Amino acid sequence: MAIIGSHGEVRSIFSAAADADHARFGGIVPEIASRNHTFLLLPLIEKAFALAGFSFENIDGLAVTSRPGLIGSLLTGLVTAQTLAIANRKPFIGVNHLEGHLWAPFLRDENYQPPVDFEFPALALAVSGGHSTLYRVNEFGDYKIIGRTRDDAAGEAFDKFAKTVGLGFPGGAKVDQLSRIGDATRFEFPRALLKDPSDDFSFSGLKSAAARELAAFLPDDRQAISAAAEEFLKTNVPKPGLLADLCASFQAAIVDVLVGKTIRVLEREGLDSVILTGGVAANSSLGEKLKKTTVAMGATLISPPLRYCTDNAAMIGYVGIQRLNRGEQSAFGLRPEPRAPLDQEGIGK
Ligand code: KG4
Ligand code: ZN
Repeated sequence: MAIIGSHGEVRSIFSAAADADHARFGGIVPEIASRNHTFLLLPLIEKAFALAGFSFENIDGLAVTSRPGLIGSLLTGLVTAQTLAIANRKPFIGVNHLEGHLWAPFLRDENYQPPVDFEFPALALAVSGGHSTLYRVNEFGDYKIIGRTRDDAAGEAFDKFAKTVGLGFPGGAKVDQLSRIGDATRFEFPRALLKDPSDDFSFSGLKSAAARELAAFLPDDRQAISAAAEEFLKTNVPKPGLLADLCASFQAAIVDVLVGKTIRVLEREGLDSVILTGGVAANSSLGEKLKKTTVAMGATLISPPLRYCTDNAAMIGYVGIQRLNRGEQSAFGLRPEPRAPLDQEGIGK
């Protein structure tokens, strides 16, 4: 839940982390997610209003994620927002989650201001647990999909690998932490489709390659990996060794492909602005490498601070207010859509 000004000012933001409820199942359980939404939404809304010293009287409208996503969670959010909008006589708008990620780097708060000279058209790399897509962003509401994953998303690959080596769920950030002290050249993982003429990604082969590598270790080594993972989960202190080297080698394979393809498209499309966004944009190596390469090309890279990289309500509010200010509004009774490619959004939907 967040309260946002028309220029992306984040006045108040709260989230209820429910990762722990899913972790023991090793992934998101849709039924748990939607139930949690029913318990957590209203108290969060109250908290965010209280923090900003706002009430419904001070806001101009309500925005809610209506697509794409898990149907139960979308439905709970939508019904809550619609009900509050009707009760308070406010306009309401359903927002595409991915469009939120694209505009997250343009949010602003006390500690973060986006650059004023960022120019469109831009190339956006949106990488999260559910999506790995390259978009051409011509302007607000005008998006073209250039490449997308054919199977697993980058975040999904990180999470599945993390689970295999005993780092729990979601494990992307933990793999990142261990990679910083690991040797990325120790294991050779495939860079799928890197040389392929298409702009698509594929990350599912990487997961199998990592599982094969792990199965080939001697029992003592496998034991050492599990013990290192367990210790890291307890202490949060990364230590050098097999586990760190595996993580670094795995991460390097993902980062090489993401950076390689982004740069190739950037050159071909003649663009010099890049947006890096989504949960995986929080990855330190991806951010550093993409920054270094784009700067060397004379291009500008913009990426949200960590708190706006991963899923958050501020990015949804910012897209919502921009659409409301353009005269758009959703009809009451708007339905959630589990799938909703961004290139079909346009203005006025
Ligand atoms: O955007 P997001 O919060 O949710 C989705 O819309 O999916 O992205 C979550 C994903 C998870 O797969 C998580 O493991 C990954 O982002 N992630 C990371 C890092 N931080 C989060 N992956 C790699 N390195 C990180 N530092
Ligand atoms: Zn997301």
